[in-house]
Amino acid sequence: MMKLTAGEQAMLDGKDGKAKQKAMDLLLRYGEALGAERFVDTNNVCGTVGASTPFLRDYGSRHGGLDAVFSEFNLDSAEVVEIPKVSVYSSHLQQGIDPEHAERQGIPVEVVKLHRRGEAYAAGLGINLLNTCAPYTVGNVPTRGEHCAWMESSAVIYINSVLGARTNAEGRESAGCAMLTGKIPYWGYHIEENRIGTHHVEVDIDVESTADWGLLGYYIGEVVQDRVPVLTGITRVPNLPRLKHFGAAAASSGGVEMYHMVGITPEAPTLETAFGRNKPVMTFKYGRAERKQAYERANITAKNPNVDFIMLGCPHYTIEQIWEVCRLLEGKRVHPNTELWIFTPRQTKHLADQNGYTKIITDAGAHLMSDTCSALGRVIPKGTKVAAADSAKQSHYLPAIMGIECWFGTTEDCVNAAVSGRWTGELE
Ligand code: F3S
Repeated sequence: MMKLTAGEQAMLDGKDGKAKQKAMDLLLRYGEALGAERFVDTNNVCGTVGASTPFLRDYGSRHGGLDAVFSEFNLDSAEVVEIPKVSVYSSHLQQGIDPEHAERQGIPVEVVKLHRRGEAYAAGLGINLLNTCAPYTVGNVPTRGEHCAWMESSAVIYINSVLGARTNAEGRESAGCAMLTGKIPYWGYHIEENRIGTHHVEVDIDVESTADWGLLGYYIGEVVQDRVPVLTGITRVPNLPRLKHFGAAAASSGGVEMYHMVGITPEAPTLETAFGRNKPVMTFKYGRAERKQAYERANITAKNPNVDFIMLGCPHYTIEQIWEVCRLLEGKRVHPNTELWIFTPRQTKHLADQNGYTKIITDAGAHLMSDTCSALGRVIPKGTKVAAADSAKQSHYLPAIMGIECWFGTTEDCVNAAVSGRWTGELE
């Protein structure tokens, strides 16, 4: 049985209203199923509310609105309860559409209206509309040791490993309940001893581009699945985009939520600290052969070199990555048979507008979008059969979700393909 504080018990007894009572009840069932002994306070929740998919929109219209959607899909309650404002700092993750590019994404006007209503609903609850899978790039940067309740695997692995914050990969329900109560079960990566390494990866080659970092993550995730790899041998400290691509790939091919890079990430000043009292269950090398293997896996669906669609921005691009694309794209034109869509958080899009990057992109015939992405929002140009991406995560999910081929390569390979209409990327 989980031990509750007086405040938690009061919420469970309904003293703070019905919605919080239901939220505590769900969290209690969840925590007990996980074997947690208690809750931990959180003041940083990233989750999803509202109705961003056709199914949820339909549910909302049939059952009386967005409180009904929150009740059923965040609180697991068939009874519709009035949802109060969130009690802790909460941010919204990526959404199903980009309302500013709805027409290009094939989204009907009616859906955009419902979407805007959903956004107003979330904002009315006090949830920050960051609308991105990379909240840590636009101001939600948890501190080391901070207990969080975040959804989105690529964000979870980033804040656990790079920032030293503490979260498990939450679901829509637990994150919604945490928004209302400020509580989350104390288990998994909230607990110090679960954060130490299990597998030792000896990196034997230089890892340079974001694509290279994606390949490294893709390979490691497949080997370690949901355990905690510890990497040694990194010769050059990776920047934010590289770590973002590494983590997203490791969380896609496996279920990695935490890793260490010795001398780089905060909980691994030494190999000994990274493993604590654990002995590695496995040690393996990542060299040229393993990199080639990961590249082949990431390109497993790709056959046709005539590319219809290039997707950049998985996880959502940083301003640095947009700048990099602009350097590759400026003065060129996207091929008439090809579309280039770049995804970024909405705030970063504003910065790109201000910096003149959006103009460079649109002058080239490409599009800078926000809030959603192709795999998650299922938004690709009509008739797409062959896509390309510089993200191992996107090239993993696009074929599975959209039934299309997808090439994987460097950002430069992708921009070249957008301009020529043909994939010529190769592993160097
Ligand atoms: Fe983000 Fe979509 Fe990739 S939500 S991590 S861009 S699959």
